[in-house]
Amino acid sequence: MFKILGKTEPATNINKFIIEVPEIAKKVLPGQFVILRLHEKGERIPITIADKDKEKGTITLFVQEVGKTTTEMGRLKTGDAILDVVGPLGVPSHIENFGTVLCVAGGVGVAVMYPIAKALKEKNNKVISVLGARSKSFVILENEIKNISDEFYLTTDDGSYGQKGFVSDVLKNLLATCHSPLANIVFAIGPVPMMKVVSEITKQHNLKTIVSLNPVMVDGTGMCGACRVSIGGVTKFACVDGPDFDGHLVNWNELTCRLSLFKQKEKESLDYYCKLKSA
Ligand SMILES: Cc1cc2nc3c(=O)[nH]c(=O)nc-3n(C[C@H](O)[C@H](O)[C@H](O)COP(=O)(O)OP(=O)(O)OC[C@H]3O[C@@H](n4cnc5c(N)ncnc54)[C@H](O)[C@@H]3O)c2cc1C
Ligand code: FES
Repeated sequence: MFKILGKTEPATNINKFIIEVPEIAKKVLPGQFVILRLHEKGERIPITIADKDKEKGTITLFVQEVGKTTTEMGRLKTGDAILDVVGPLGVPSHIENFGTVLCVAGGVGVAVMYPIAKALKEKNNKVISVLGARSKSFVILENEIKNISDEFYLTTDDGSYGQKGFVSDVLKNLLATCHSPLANIVFAIGPVPMMKVVSEITKQHNLKTIVSLNPVMVDGTGMCGACRVSIGGVTKFACVDGPDFDGHLVNWNELTCRLSLFKQKEKESLDYYCKLKSA
């Protein structure tokens, strides 16, 4: 059992957990994730490690409530425990001194971006960050990302905070007004439609773009095939070959279809759970 040392709700429907897992805190690198199982009958869900404290032996997770397990997790409190925390899993993000790096993140993807952007800054890159959220109450890690960024932009879909619009609007603007190449590489992390659009824009400018894919995962070991994605026509498993891939090579339509495969079952499972809890 792994103890929750802290739980807060920094944004609407997004819970932040600090969990005691010294072995993982010691080893984790930016871009890696854990697979959690809350209890004996729970399903396994992948969540990225947003931060760590080696001395205290803790990892930090930001979990958005979207379905049954993440909603159930949202009901846990400081002092509760999680049955299984497996990791660190996945290939760490490739970090080096690229020169100028553009970090484009949306929604809970900002939590996935945070350790990557921090590591890029530590390698002396110039970091330009563009964060997006549905509205003000969904913004996370604003100050943390601002503190490590040389340039910082924030958008909300409804204009309740920062610039009104999408991260892709800022990206298009920056690319249109820049006389020399804007950046040497782009990292884009967030909902699939956002990563797809960003990749389409950057492709027109021949700007290398790394995305962090989030297909459904089960075992996290490359054995079950659940997280299969097509990259440049080649089958890859996001849990062991990724989750980072070249955004210009991803088959976005296939990923979108596979993510919606279990939608009806997922909805039934959430409805059943909510009914049980309110009974
Ligand atoms: C490598 C990786 C890292 C991730 N890191 C984070 C993170 O740091 N924080 C976070 O909140 N979420 C993260 N996710 C997504 C998270 O795993 C899903 O939100 C979770 O599995 C949903 O479980 P559920 O039972 O609550 O919802 P379900 O009932 O399984 O699904 C409900 C709805 O959520 C969406 N969904 C389901 N699975 C995923 C998925 N894998 N990715 C995106 N949407 C999904 C679907 O639209 C579905 O209809 C990550 C996913 C991957 C693959
Ligand atoms: S989750 Fe099973 S192969 Fe990746």
